Amino acid sequence: MTALEVRGITKTFRSLRAVDDVSFTVEPGSICGFIGPNGAGKTTTMRICATLELPDHGDVLVDGVSVLEDPRRARRKLGFMPDNYGAYPQTTIREYLDFYARAYGLTGKARKTTVDQVMAFTSLGPLEEKLINTLSKGMKQRLCLAKTMLHDPAVLILDEPAAGLDPRARVELRELVKALGAMGKALLISSHILTELAEMCDGVAVIESGKLLARGRVGEIQRSLQPHATMYVRALCDLATLEKALLEEPGIANIRGERQGLVFDYTGDDEALARLLERLVARGLKPVEFAGGEVKLEDIFMSLTQGKLQ
Ligand SMILES: Nc1ncnc2c1ncn2[C@@H]1O[C@H](COP(=O)(O)OP(=O)(O)O)[C@@H](O)[C@H]1O
Ligand SMILES: [Mg+2]
Repeated sequence: MTALEVRGITKTFRSLRAVDDVSFTVEPGSICGFIGPNGAGKTTTMRICATLELPDHGDVLVDGVSVLEDPRRARRKLGFMPDNYGAYPQTTIREYLDFYARAYGLTGKARKTTVDQVMAFTSLGPLEEKLINTLSKGMKQRLCLAKTMLHDPAVLILDEPAAGLDPRARVELRELVKALGAMGKALLISSHILTELAEMCDGVAVIESGKLLARGRVGEIQRSLQPHATMYVRALCDLATLEKALLEEPGIANIRGERQGLVFDYTGDDEALARLLERLVARGLKPVEFAGGEVKLEDIFMSLTQGKLQ
């Protein structure tokens, strides 16, 4: 079953259409990047998923539960990490987590065990007596993530979790996110900075001015934008021989030299590509590298969005 199903949601603030007929799904164990510039409608979409805002139209199913019909049950299945959160400064990490564990109805030994587990998962254990106002941004984010996990939700929605983190904290966040995906959670993670999400997401949904522009794997989106792929080949033969061989093949254009090999535009499916490689081998050209050109999330984003502000 799909863990998170956003079904045609629309939300208007006065005359502004903040979210415009947005639909997408996130499967269990997968990490979906939710990408768009500031004001695109990411937070509004996420708040609707988290039952904090009502859509004008549409619905969201969290682990099969409608946020409109049964928001309380949907909330139980979902953890939401807002882009900023309030906390009493004179509270320790353990007190903070214990408070929320109580709010989720955990009692006695089960509560202590759960708090210990989420602190261990987020490496906050040794810091449990630290006051929240003394924590770095990265630690605060980890604490908020720990809170979000207390009730073991199937779906986690994280709004700009990497914002303002230094590179180390970002790497740590990425590891936590991946571990959550490996545990079978469905994650929706927003960012307006693409490179923040590139390495941790299985797929992306791109939003601008309230409209979903694209949804899919990074490679798929790239292919739909660009009918041809860029390929790189390096072989243990001279470049002229390699180029001559490529020129005889179908679907190849625009051959140019790069990094001791050749780069070319290629139109054809994976089957045809496999046969191309077979033929290069059969001709004795000894290919040692044969790879698709790097797909940059940044480039996809730039070609999809027009930089409209709202
Ligand atoms: N409560 C609100 N009242 C009026 N306008 C809002 C409200 N919340 C968001 N908006 C507007 O909706 C648009 C989308 O905002 P938001 O969902 O926060 O975008 P993002 O998270 O992608 O930056 C923005 O133009 C924002 O100003
Ligand atoms: Mg936002």
